[in-house]
Formats: sequence, structure tokens, C-alpha cells
Amino acid sequence: MASSTSMLLFVPFLLISSVMVASAGNFNQDFQVTWGDGRANILNDGQLLTLSLDKTSGSGFESKNEYLFGKIDMQLKLVAGNSAGTVTAYYLKSEGSTWDEIDFEFLGNLSGNPYTLHTNVFSQGKGNREQQFHLWFDPTADFHTYSILWNPQRIVFSVDGTPIREFKNQESNGVPFPKSQPMRIHSSLWNADDWATMGGRVKTDWNTAPFTASYRNFNAEACIWASGSSSCGSSSAPASTNGDWLSQELDSASYEKLSWVQKNYMIYNYCTDVNRFPQGLPVECSTS
Ligand SMILES: *[C@@H]1O[C@H](CO)[C@@H](O)[C@H](O)[C@H]1NC(C)=O
Repeated sequence: MASSTSMLLFVPFLLISSVMVASAGNFNQDFQVTWGDGRANILNDGQLLTLSLDKTSGSGFESKNEYLFGKIDMQLKLVAGNSAGTVTAYYLKSEGSTWDEIDFEFLGNLSGNPYTLHTNVFSQGKGNREQQFHLWFDPTADFHTYSILWNPQRIVFSVDGTPIREFKNQESNGVPFPKSQPMRIHSSLWNADDWATMGGRVKTDWNTAPFTASYRNFNAEACIWASGSSSCGSSSAPASTNGDWLSQELDSASYEKLSWVQKNYMIYNYCTDVNRFPQGLPVECSTS
């Protein structure tokens, strides 16, 4: 494998020479089932993927490709009804003991009670950067788009195009940023009733199993990592738009939406949890 440093030097060049790397997002082409013994299924000619969970097992899938930066959209429809105890995780992750990771996790709840959308960013094996949200809609009633923009300057989590969290590159303040380890997309549905819902007090009700989450409309404009180098392109956008996302920032309208979400829907922010960090809040909290 080429070193990560040479990869980074390569990025500006990719902006100019980017190539189309895949056709329209298709689960058969872009993903593989990793576990669940028949509980994960790709349907409708690759247009739909479902995960299920019962008392015996959950299930999961991952992308065939590894990506080093990307703008990745996926539509999810979460476990409906009494989903307490279940967790649907959708995340990017690299390999090894000093891995990078960008997480969406959906913590189920009793019928009529809100899901919790849990987010985290790991760089070089260190996470502890949780922010949690409730949503402004019922995520089980229909599909909604959950997006990760990951470029060398920032990571932005968005829901239906509304940014909910930005994690900026703060290497200049000594905070490691995920930028040199390619990551794969992973997703799984599993039982986490020891902690997921109301701190583990509400358990999974197996009478309503199997639980099912559905996925569709995967789209990635991304740099695909292969044999130590990478090519950037889009699975559906015209080639002329390739690369815009690699330097994308949030404009003022996006920051307004972000603060609307953080003000009204954020239920936990590690950056304000002074009891958890008696030695002082993490560096990125004071400068972002
Ligand atoms: C479940 O519902 C309760 C009550 O509305 C809420 O406080 C909690 O954040 C919800 N989510 C989880 C995962 O417990």
C-alpha cells in the first residue's frame, strides 16, 4: 500500500483528473451481506436492502469499496412500532487498532417515544465525541436521507439535507482528524437492550420480532480506494460536478439550520458535559 502521505498529496490532482467510478448505486454492486444467516436481504434488483433482527441474531452488511473522503447518502426506514432495545448502526470505519470512524446510530424506543440519533467521530482509535438528537419526524413512517460529507476540512452529518453536526479539521490545534485511513460503509441491526433505551431499563420485546430496517437510494460521490491509490468520482452525478464536495463548506443558511437542530433537537453534547471531563473539555469543543 502507498503511504497515506502520498495519498494526500495526490488529492488536488484528483480534483482535476477525477473519473467516473461506478454506475447508479445498486446494493448488489456496491455492498455485501456480512452476517445474519439470511436475515439481510438485497431485493428488487439491488434497489432495496433489508436487515432483520430476531432473538437468535441480528444482521449486517458492508460496502465492497473503501473510501477516502466522500459525500455519501443513504435512505433508511427504521424499525417501526416497539423498537426499544434495538440499535440500527450506519457508519464509516477503517481497519486496525487506531481506526477512524464516523457514526450514525439509531437507538429504538417504545411505541410513540422518540428514536435517539446518536453520532460520534473517532480519529486514530479515540472517540468519546458523542452528540445525540431526537428527530423532527417519525423515522419509521418513511425513508429519510442520512448523509455524511467527509472531506479534508470537515465532517458534516445531515438528515434530509439539514446539517445536524459539523466536526471540523482542527489538526492545527492538535486534534487528530480522519484523513489518511480509507473507510468502508457498514450497517447492522442488533440487540443492545443492555444500554440502548432509557439507559438499558427498557428491554427488547421479542413478541414483536422480527424487527426490520430498510435501505434504499445509496449514492456516493467519493474517492474509492483500491490497491493503495484512489480515484474520485460519482455513482450518479455528472462528471462535471465531481470534486465540489471535496472542498464543500457550510454556507450561512446551512449554519442557521444546524443551529436550529442543535437548539431544538440535540439531547446530548459531549462538548457541554463538564462532569464527564473534569480535566477540561476536549480541545475541539472550545474552538468550534
Ligand atoms: C425514549 O423515549 C424517552 C421518553 O420520551 C426519551 O427520553 C429517550 O430519549 C428516548 N430514547 C431512548 C433511546 O431512550
